[in-house]
Amino acid sequence: MTSTLNQDQSDYWNGEVGQRWALYHEALDTAFAPFTEALFARAALPPGARVLDIGCGAGDTALRAARQVGSGGHVTAADLSEPLLAVGRERAAREAPGAAPIEWLRADAQDHAFGARFDHALSRFGVMFFEDSTAAFANIRRSLVAGGRMSFLCWRNMAENAWVTLARDAVLPILPEAEAPQPGAPGPFRFAAPETLLPILEAAGFHAIECEPVDRMMRVGDTPEAAADFVATRGPIARLLREREPDVKDAALKIITALFRDRFGSGPVELGAACWLVTART
Ligand SMILES: C[S@@+](CC[C@H](N)C(=O)[O-])C[C@H]1O[C@@H](n2cnc3c(N)ncnc32)[C@H](O)[C@@H]1O
Repeated sequence: MTSTLNQDQSDYWNGEVGQRWALYHEALDTAFAPFTEALFARAALPPGARVLDIGCGAGDTALRAARQVGSGGHVTAADLSEPLLAVGRERAAREAPGAAPIEWLRADAQDHAFGARFDHALSRFGVMFFEDSTAAFANIRRSLVAGGRMSFLCWRNMAENAWVTLARDAVLPILPEAEAPQPGAPGPFRFAAPETLLPILEAAGFHAIECEPVDRMMRVGDTPEAAADFVATRGPIARLLREREPDVKDAALKIITALFRDRFGSGPVELGAACWLVTART
């Protein structure tokens, strides 16, 4: 991989955060499962399709796509993060026969020359981090054959995502100078507003663009402790805590654990989550 366009993101997803996502991929896949169902229901990948998974992470969606399109199809799973791709490769080796071959590709989706060879580009929360989103989506469009389709998930407003706000509001008092997410900057809530996203997709050459709201409960952990660990070490709160001293991180974890214990007892923690399911054609 030679591109340095998204060097900050590459450092982020190859560093401590990527390692943590790799280690805890099962909990993430469980949490995201209701959204994954919605994504695949809408994508309706036919047998034999050639699929590009953008920002494939630890491979959950690439593996599912490979099972769905079957041995006559093909999946390219692209990501900046070597630790996450390594998990995907290892999981693929355990796949049952009959799934499509998967090419695990360390690549920047913003400018990698994929070639116009995919019927479908999909992504689960992997398209909100480009330095130049219009250039990146134009590159993704060029990777599709004529009539090709794209389906992806991105988060709606943070305020609609209790799985973030509940814990965030509880820890903000110990993080006085915490910054609010910058609208339009790379990050999970970048495309919360369709007014931001639609012109980008149009400028990138996509047509028939639709943004469907999807609201689901997300199981962030089977116990308050596991759930607190999840929200404090992966996702938007992890970003807030990333540069903090260890004692501040510990205090935040204790606050979130106590909050979840108060609210959910010793049982599983399920919180509301809100996404856009975006579809478009070349
Ligand atoms: C929020 S994670 C989602 C991972 C995976 N799709 C999932 O749902 O578990 C975002 C992913 O996008 C990848 N990513 C960010 N910017 C990228 C880029 N420019 N090109 C390729 N992958 C990128 C990250 O490395 C990370 O794996």
